[in-house]
Amino acid sequence: MKKFIHYLLVFCFVVSCKDKSTTKLSQNEVVQNTTLTNFDTQINDLMAKMTLEEKIGQMNQYNGFWDATGPNPDKGKSAKKYEELRKGHVGSMLNIKEGVKQVKALQKIAVEETRLGIPLIIAFDVIHGFKTITPIPLAEAASWDLEAIKKSAQNAAEEAAAAGINWTFAPMVDTSRDPRWGRVMEGGGEDPYLGAKIATARIKGFQGKNLSSTKTIAACAKHFAGYGFSEAGRDYNTVDIGTSTLNNVVFPPFKAAAEAGVKTFMNSFNELNGIPATGNTFLQRDVLKGKWNFNGFVVSDWASMVEMIAHGYAEDEEHAAELSIKAGADMDMESYVYVEHLANLVKRGSVKETLINDAVKRILKVKYELGLFEDPYKYCDEEREKAVTGKQEFRDDALDMSKKSIVLLKNKKKLLPLKKKNQKIALIGALAKDKTSPLGNWSLAGEPGSAVSVLEGLQKYKGNILKYAKGVDVITVDSPTGWSDKAIINETDTSGFSEAITLAKKADVVVMVLGEHGIQTGEARSRANIDLPGLQQELLEAVYKVNKNIVLVLTNGRPLTIPWADKNIPSILETWQLGVQSGNAIAQVLYGDYNPSGKLPMTFPRSLGQIPIYYNYKSTGRPNGNNVFWSHYLDEKKTPLYPFGHGLSYTSFSYNNLKINKVNNREVKISVNLTNTGKVKGKEVAQLYIHDLFASVTRPVRELKGFKLIQLNPSETKIIHFTLTEKELGFYDNKGTFVIEPGKFEVFVGGSSDAKLAQKFTLE
Ligand code: NOJ
Repeated sequence: MKKFIHYLLVFCFVVSCKDKSTTKLSQNEVVQNTTLTNFDTQINDLMAKMTLEEKIGQMNQYNGFWDATGPNPDKGKSAKKYEELRKGHVGSMLNIKEGVKQVKALQKIAVEETRLGIPLIIAFDVIHGFKTITPIPLAEAASWDLEAIKKSAQNAAEEAAAAGINWTFAPMVDTSRDPRWGRVMEGGGEDPYLGAKIATARIKGFQGKNLSSTKTIAACAKHFAGYGFSEAGRDYNTVDIGTSTLNNVVFPPFKAAAEAGVKTFMNSFNELNGIPATGNTFLQRDVLKGKWNFNGFVVSDWASMVEMIAHGYAEDEEHAAELSIKAGADMDMESYVYVEHLANLVKRGSVKETLINDAVKRILKVKYELGLFEDPYKYCDEEREKAVTGKQEFRDDALDMSKKSIVLLKNKKKLLPLKKKNQKIALIGALAKDKTSPLGNWSLAGEPGSAVSVLEGLQKYKGNILKYAKGVDVITVDSPTGWSDKAIINETDTSGFSEAITLAKKADVVVMVLGEHGIQTGEARSRANIDLPGLQQELLEAVYKVNKNIVLVLTNGRPLTIPWADKNIPSILETWQLGVQSGNAIAQVLYGDYNPSGKLPMTFPRSLGQIPIYYNYKSTGRPNGNNVFWSHYLDEKKTPLYPFGHGLSYTSFSYNNLKINKVNNREVKISVNLTNTGKVKGKEVAQLYIHDLFASVTRPVRELKGFKLIQLNPSETKIIHFTLTEKELGFYDNKGTFVIEPGKFEVFVGGSSDAKLAQKFTLE
């Protein structure tokens, strides 16, 4: 408390009689009788002392690429940035992964060398874990387990905060229907309802109840908005979508994020209907800060302000700055256009200073809530960092999350779970031995090689004879980050095939670990083909020729097209990229020590031509037909390979007795009986979908509106209850107004979006 008052008083010191821009407020200049009322007064007092340049400095975020603990940079961009920092012209820094020592050194410059001593807010892409890398967000989404997802974010926040981080650029809440887009690995999948629930869970996990705790960090809902709809799945590409999709599919997870109290939003690289998101007033001022009443701040995406020139929307850098501030972007990440042009724009009268004041106030408020004014070094405790980083509890939770994320796609011959004794197991695939790929993309602070491989996980089971052969390399990469634009897929080297085939011939069961390397998804990792990369399909078919008892363990960051495998391979397990505990989780599921319960958060297409394919599509006027004139393909089914919500278990479940119990006051109560009809205990994600049969704006054939995770012993039955309220029954019309229309609805309940059990009701 003493420190708190000390810093506030320093900021509140009245300098009216001195030249604002040059007077350095000494730490001793404490005004004894300042009354501290509330946040607004304190920030207003502080802002009254700031020069225009210092205010704009708060709106400037730099990449922390230079070593603040080493010699000061004396030339080039780093030197300039260093000077800006010392002048108080930097409000935030990102990408400091070296931990407390480095953060403290930078914070020290901000606090001790700048005139007003305003602390920096330190940002980082804590996307799935910090050092203890957890499953990629798409994998966590497959758990449908909101408590586990929240816990995972909570742990990530604690570990990051202990390393000096105050703010994560997560969660990414972009709904996407296009698995070619590499960033689907960062999100919650294709569904706005599930996406909104996950967004809320992750924000609550990161931010906790008290943002100033040293275990929590500020979250950031990104990328506002429409990024997941980048045309043809090509990253950064144009987005052109109508109001219905925008309001009903893209916005809901963002709105949920705002309602959950997320402290920041990030705008986006893409243009939306002709206007780049970064310069988009409708998105940032009208919807976010207006309609949704968001009172945190908006950060641009990396250089997205200056990129508006390439978009053909801004004439030059100065124009980019003007468009961005007017549209509601509060902080400039690495475009340098605010720090270089905003002051002139204000002085010329092109930009009102009130806009700057509003942005700065929003930024200072988050710093204040983080407790940085109370103690700028409160996140900089090296002892805590040592004690917290990689602690066992995080690893245990990461294992739990990993197991919950795994989806059993197919199990025909009941090859799974594997027998624990007297089996000869051939483990094949370069990814089975890989200890870095399971970390996935966006694992910036993770240690390469820190994941338990599938080989290591399986080796813990001693009852069988386990032998390994690589078969084929997936990538031939020259940099561990995969930043190289050179071809990284191995398309030529088949030298490992024969060893794998020989091994498979002698095995009772072959476990093949195939898929995408961790660096093949994520930002800028769009793929025009989403099959097994490189020579893995050839390897799979070659092994199949000598042994048909194959368990295919997929590891990937997006849905893949695997029609051949689906047709021929008896058991397929989707394991995504699971982080540090990957191999342990996969082994426990393969051996049945954990019964899988994950469900797909994204549709798996049969072939590329079906994309975009998603479960909540519209009917069309010709959904079925006998002759050629109906909505279909001549050369492909129109159904997916695996639908949204699909996922099997080592037991089986049956649903019956679906009842609509009450329809009044626009509230519908629904119940259904769920029975475990198999031989082992298992968990099921019971899903409820509705279809609004006719409406003033057509509604999808199905929309997820409820789900429950239910654990059942063999032969046990439970009655599951769902309630639909106006929130679930209504939709946004084409003017963006939420409406609830009376009429007929159909309800479906089951274990996937293909649920067959249905009932109808009418809303008065
Ligand atoms: C660009 C990405 O689009 C964004 O998601 C990320 O947070 C920033 N870079 C910072 O790394």
